[in-house]
Amino acid sequence: MHATALCPLNDLCNGTIGSAFLENGRRIAIYHVDGNVYATDDRCTHGDASLADEGSLEGHTVECGLHLGAFDVRTGAATSAPCVHAIKTYPVEVRDGQVWLSAEAAACDAT
Ligand code: FES
Repeated sequence: MHATALCPLNDLCNGTIGSAFLENGRRIAIYHVDGNVYATDDRCTHGDASLADEGSLEGHTVECGLHLGAFDVRTGAATSAPCVHAIKTYPVEVRDGQVWLSAEAAACDAT
């Protein structure tokens, strides 16, 4: 089992959203909030929108740019309509200036 490097922390300014691809081709959105980093699926659970490309981050809330639904990036919970389904979250950590997907998550998504 190995961890997956997602991006350098320096590429992700505080309050911004980055993105990375997992080994299985799935795109995830990565959020930097006051020194903490979170990751979720990039695709909104309401429709065909990219949170990294079209979303905006305010505190721990990412708002989808298409219909303005929102999620808590810490838990994935839908916090604003029309989003009702939680978004998948991924455990990440920062080590040596790099954002890593945890080894367990990397193993699950390799299949
Ligand atoms: S596609 Fe995200 S709120 Fe509709």
